[in-house]
Amino acid sequence: MEQTIQAILSRRSIRKYKAIQVSEEELGTMLEAGLYAPSGGNCQYTRFTVIQKPEVLAELKRIVEQEFSRMEVTEGMYRSKVHAIQAAKKGGYDFIYNAPTLIVVTNKKGHGNAMADSAAAIENILLAATSMNIGTCWINQLTWLSDDPVLRGYLKEFGIEEGEVICGSIAAGYSDQPQAKAQPRKEGRVQFVK
Ligand SMILES: Cc1cc2nc3c(=O)[nH]c(=O)nc-3n(C[C@H](O)[C@H](O)[C@H](O)COP(=O)(O)O)c2cc1C
Repeated sequence: MEQTIQAILSRRSIRKYKAIQVSEEELGTMLEAGLYAPSGGNCQYTRFTVIQKPEVLAELKRIVEQEFSRMEVTEGMYRSKVHAIQAAKKGGYDFIYNAPTLIVVTNKKGHGNAMADSAAAIENILLAATSMNIGTCWINQLTWLSDDPVLRGYLKEFGIEEGEVICGSIAAGYSDQPQAKAQPRKEGRVQFVK
């Protein structure tokens, strides 16, 4: 139990990775943690596509940069999306911070629990990785492009079908940055009714 709490408290988003691939054994454990996440009605629709081929990661980066650079920033737009558009327009946008592994998490389109089930699986993977000293970062760009025909056309080559929605993705690798402290927690988010 202590180890679980330790992983929850020490997990941080990693945005700088060593140029070393995650070991197959550790990756297998991370994926098993994802597969064993709870799912509404035990549907188990969540799927994981692990991308490690450098050419494919490079092409994904190119597509993400291209598609985001075509977007315009609008008023009230979610801040992280604004950053993505601005970085893409600037060029050289690496949305996965040079991580050697990207896990794309998909679910059944139209399934009411698609995002909830996928998020549970993603967090399981992040925590499993933390417990093995593997760095990860939850990556949203592919989710924002889930309906983008260029991205979907490319991902189809790797078995991600039209009937699936991209709920999230995970950059993974060995961290090349110092262990950071968690941001302070905002007050007033817990209440008791006794
Ligand atoms: C749904 C979701 C989407 C996220 N998308 C991104 C992302 O696209 N890129 C990124 O660098 N971090 C992303 N993050 C990581 C958050 O920025 C990070 O969790 C937050 O700043 C707190 O930092 P910590 O994870 O180190 O505790 C995402 C986190 C969540 C939960």
